[in-house]
Amino acid sequence: AAIPVITIDGPTASGKGTVAHRVADRLGFHYLDSGALYRLTALSALRHATPINDEHALAKLAAGLPCSFAGEHVYLGKEDVSHAIRAEDVGNTASRIAALPAVRHALVKLQLGFRKPPGLVADGRDMGTVIFPSAQLKVFLTASVQARAERRYKQLIDKGFAANMAGLLQDLTERDARDANRAIAPLKPAEDACLLDTSEMNADEAVEQVLQWYAAAR
Ligand code: C5P
Repeated sequence: AAIPVITIDGPTASGKGTVAHRVADRLGFHYLDSGALYRLTALSALRHATPINDEHALAKLAAGLPCSFAGEHVYLGKEDVSHAIRAEDVGNTASRIAALPAVRHALVKLQLGFRKPPGLVADGRDMGTVIFPSAQLKVFLTASVQARAERRYKQLIDKGFAANMAGLLQDLTERDARDANRAIAPLKPAEDACLLDTSEMNADEAVEQVLQWYAAAR
């Protein structure tokens, strides 16, 4: 039988990371944070001063990312960049380079490699639509812009970054538009996705809902 996959897609700061991680823990599944791959590519590009319109050079960076994952930690070579990739400028750059087809293409194989027994929970924008169309369960997680800005604000402060609510609201709105309107792999629910609006829901409730859907789908 196919190795099970649960995809959790949605806009930035919708809480998908937290929910996907906990669902993976509960099921003993592997976890793919696909956004981290775009962030790692962005961080490399910023460090190499690669112009963010040089599609060829960026795709080369993406294809050769010396990245590894251990629990919540993300490494670029030997360096733990878990913190560095969460900075807002890295997220913004990630969202720009994610619109480049060659960059997306360069990351496909790496993502498919995460599908290993006993199963995978994959979080991103196009997990259910492009990367794992055969997933047993596809979830599309949303929340209002206001709820997401508040979550992102709290996350940034907790991680010791400076944050500004008005700036975050504007950033999120711009990034949503960029992710939803790009020509390739735009952010949209798969036709067979289950929709989950978490504006008024905490992470535990969202996790329980996803687990219920998965139990029903197997
Ligand atoms: O989810 P996260 O905010 O870490 O992702 C950073 C950026 O990477 C997103 O704004 C999005 O543009 C891009 N991304 C993507 N496809 C994915 C995951 C992330 O285009 N599967």
